[in-house]
Amino acid sequence: MSASVHKPLLATVLGNRQERPPIWIMRQAGRYLPEYRDVRARSKGFLDLCYTPDLAVEVSLQPLRRFDLDAAILFSDILVIPDALGQSVRFEVGEGPVLDPVTAETLGILRPEGVLEHLAPVLETLRRLRATLEPQKTLIGFCGSPWTVATYMIGGKGSPDQAAARLFALRHPEAFQTLIDILVAASIDYLVAQFEAGADVVQLFESWALNLDEVAFAGHVIAPNRRIVEGVRARVPNAPIIGFPRGAAGNIAAYVKATGINAVGLDYATPLKFAAEHVPAGVPVQGNLDPLRLVAGGAQMENRAREIIAAFVDRPHIFNLGHGIVPETPIEHVARLVDLVKRGI
Ligand code: CP3
Repeated sequence: MSASVHKPLLATVLGNRQERPPIWIMRQAGRYLPEYRDVRARSKGFLDLCYTPDLAVEVSLQPLRRFDLDAAILFSDILVIPDALGQSVRFEVGEGPVLDPVTAETLGILRPEGVLEHLAPVLETLRRLRATLEPQKTLIGFCGSPWTVATYMIGGKGSPDQAAARLFALRHPEAFQTLIDILVAASIDYLVAQFEAGADVVQLFESWALNLDEVAFAGHVIAPNRRIVEGVRARVPNAPIIGFPRGAAGNIAAYVKATGINAVGLDYATPLKFAAEHVPAGVPVQGNLDPLRLVAGGAQMENRAREIIAAFVDRPHIFNLGHGIVPETPIEHVARLVDLVKRGI
C-alpha cells in the first residue's frame, strides 16, 4: 500500500519523535460539526450511521476537510461489539446508549460466532477510508476495552461510578470472567480485521479505568488489555496500538509496562510532571488538553496547549484532548488549536 510514505502520527506511535507533535482529536467526528448533524439527521439512527459505509466514510472525513489533522479515525462506536454479540443496543436522543442489561443468567444469549459478519460494513468503511485518505494521514481504528464495554453491557447505560459492573464482578466472578473472555476474543478478531482492512494503528478506549481499586484495576483493565495486545500481535506482528486508560492515575506505569501498548493516552486530570516521571522514558504519550478549555478558547487554551507541548519535548508526543470533544465546542477554537500545535503560532 503506502508503506513508504511518511505518516507523522504513525511514526510517533512507533516511538519516533516529530519536530512538532502530530494532532488528532478524540471523537473528532461528531455533533460540534454542522455537517455531521446534517448527515446524522438523514440517517435512520446512530447505529445505522455506523453501519452505512457511504455515510460513515463521509463523517470520518469531515473533520479533515476543515482542519489539518494528522489522522482520520474510523466512525463507529465502542458499543457495536455488544450489538454484534446480539445484545439489544439503542441510542436514545439526549440519553446516550441504552442496553438490555446482561445478567449472570442471560450471558448465554451472546453469540460470539457472528461478530465479524455483523461488523462487515464497519470494515468496509475502513477499506474505503484507506482508499480515499491522503497517504501521509494515519488511519486509526479502535474498539472499547473489555471492562469499559462490560460496564455498559451490565449496567445497561452509562453511570458515574460503574457500580453495577463492579458489583457484578464481585458477586459473580465466573460469569464476569466469561463475559470478559468473550469481549477479549471478539476484540482481537475485530482489531485484526481492522488492520487487514487498512487501519495503520488502533486505539483501545478504556474510558472507565477510574473507580477501581488496584486489584480490580489489575484484573479488569490490565489483564484483558494485555491479552488483546498479545492476541492482535500474534496475528499482526508489531501492530501499533494506543491505549487510553482514562482515570488510571497511579496505575499508569503498571498499565503501560504490563499491557505492551506502544503509546498511552493521558486524561486531562493527569498532572504533566507526574506523567513525565511515571510513564517509562521514551514511551510515546498522547493528550491531554481538557476538552472544556477548547470550548472556552482564548489565552487559557493556548497557554495550556503550550505547557503540554513543553512537558513532553523529550519523548514522542501526539497532541490530543484528554477526553472526547464536546458538542458545544466552537469550530474556530478547534482551528486555532490545530494551528498552534502544527505551526507553533
Ligand atoms: O472519534 C470519532 O470521531 C469516532 C467515533 C466515535 C464515537 N464514539 C462516535 C459517537 C468513537 C471513537 C466513540 C467511542 C466511544 N463511544 C466511547 C469511548 C470514548 C469516550 O468518549 O470515552 C464511549 C464511552 C462510547 C459510548 C457512547 N457512544 C456514549 C456514552 C455515547 C453518548 C454520549 C455522546 O457523546 O453522545 C455515544 C454516542 C456517540 N458515539 C455519538 C458519536 C458521534 C453521538 C451520537 C449521535 O450522533 O446521536
